[in-house]
Amino acid sequence: MLTLQAREHEAPLEQVNQIFWLSLLEQVQAEVRGQANSILDIGCHDGGLLVRLAALLHPKKLIGIEPETLLRERALFRLHKLASSVAVLPPERWNTIPPSSLDLVTCHEVLHLVDDLSGLFGQVSRTLSTHGTAFVVSGCHTENPIWPRWSAQLRTEGKVVVDRSPFDILRAGINAGLHASLRPLRRDGWVIYDPDLAKFTYSSVVELLEHHYRHKLLFRFVKLP
Ligand SMILES: C[S@@+](CC[C@H](N)C(=O)[O-])C[C@H]1O[C@@H](n2cnc3c(N)ncnc32)[C@H](O)[C@@H]1O
Repeated sequence: MLTLQAREHEAPLEQVNQIFWLSLLEQVQAEVRGQANSILDIGCHDGGLLVRLAALLHPKKLIGIEPETLLRERALFRLHKLASSVAVLPPERWNTIPPSSLDLVTCHEVLHLVDDLSGLFGQVSRTLSTHGTAFVVSGCHTENPIWPRWSAQLRTEGKVVVDRSPFDILRAGINAGLHASLRPLRRDGWVIYDPDLAKFTYSSVVELLEHHYRHKLLFRFVKLP
């Protein structure tokens, strides 16, 4: 069990996620080639991924979708000077985003918190421009052996989480009219992990490596003409 002192030093979300964000950004850079004027991040938390996307692609428009008011405010504070148009919206304001207006959508570890997956993909499909791409990362799915443990932990914390398979995610995108593909997010590179400070733990190094290199999936959804 963690001591109180250790808990106080739990790695913040941004520190834990940045190794995954780096892989996502590499993939975005390889495929988008600097042509993303309008970027939206679903479940943007306090804007860490959008800050990095802005530095990489210099978009004119940045949008975050985030239900938590405090996180929206923190994201807006971090982002407001990084593009000529910046908005951080609650999910109920998806409809205010014009159709076919986004070049790039990202979403990192949010789908397990989303009840209406087909509604979400309907909005992604509606707002993506032709040839626009959504990159969606999920390790929180039912094919990942750690998911039963992690989902129980999230439920204990009072979060409402949904059990979904990778095929459920693929199907939701395809049914919304998007061209879908997937791969593991990471295939190599260092894994940084402190077993005494981690909030979400692994029972072995094999489980840790399998999560990083096998079960954490990157889905690509493209809007074709
Ligand atoms: C596990 S955190 C991931 C945050 C961030 N994407 C990252 O990579 O660090 C999930 C985030 O999704 C947000 N969220 C929950 N339900 C959502 C929904 N229906 N639409 C958009 N975001 C949602 C949460 O408030 C939280 O900020």
